[in-house]
Amino acid sequence: MIKIALFISGRGSNMKAILEQCKNGILSDIAKPVLVFSNKKDAVGLDYATMHEIPTISVESKGLKRKDFDQKVLALLEPYNPDYIVLAGYMRILSPILIQAYPKRIINIHPADTHLHQGLDGYKWAFEKKLPKTKVTVHYVDEGLDTGSIIEQAEVDLTGVKTLEEIESRGLKVEHQLYSQVLKKILIQS
Ligand code: GAR
Repeated sequence: MIKIALFISGRGSNMKAILEQCKNGILSDIAKPVLVFSNKKDAVGLDYATMHEIPTISVESKGLKRKDFDQKVLALLEPYNPDYIVLAGYMRILSPILIQAYPKRIINIHPADTHLHQGLDGYKWAFEKKLPKTKVTVHYVDEGLDTGSIIEQAEVDLTGVKTLEEIESRGLKVEHQLYSQVLKKILIQS
């Protein structure tokens, strides 16, 4: 089994979808979630992980320098010895210290085509641009902001959507499916 640590900052719906696939789905013979980590103490997703008996750790990142915070994170990860770090709505840029410790072993999902939109609010961007469709991207994490090499993308059809909430709901449905499928492909090869 490949050990994965999931990183979240809030709701954790992608984390939940992945944990479900680890328990009873396409990741069940492949991935073992060893830790859910959050940089926000009140991240809602932590409760779900605890309910499902996955170890959780949260350390408030506010006010800490990126490098100092990631140094702490690195030390916390050590006893869990994850093979991969899976970012699932983790809203903090990683510093080189963490990225270099897990080369090509940190994966992220982004709610847009990373070639076209980086950073926050990917669905808002699609909404404001009135796009007829958008993409979600699973990519390796490098030292830039959403610049890591793309592993796979999936299209989100936006025809007929009227609100940002509708876009987000369609997009998340696609994210939830795509992320586990991509993880399966990557982990099987490793
Ligand atoms: C998801 O849409 C994810 O793609 C996005 O945050 C949301 C988290 O939702 N991530 C980013 O914007 C990273 N730049 P979740 O907590 O319900 O999985």
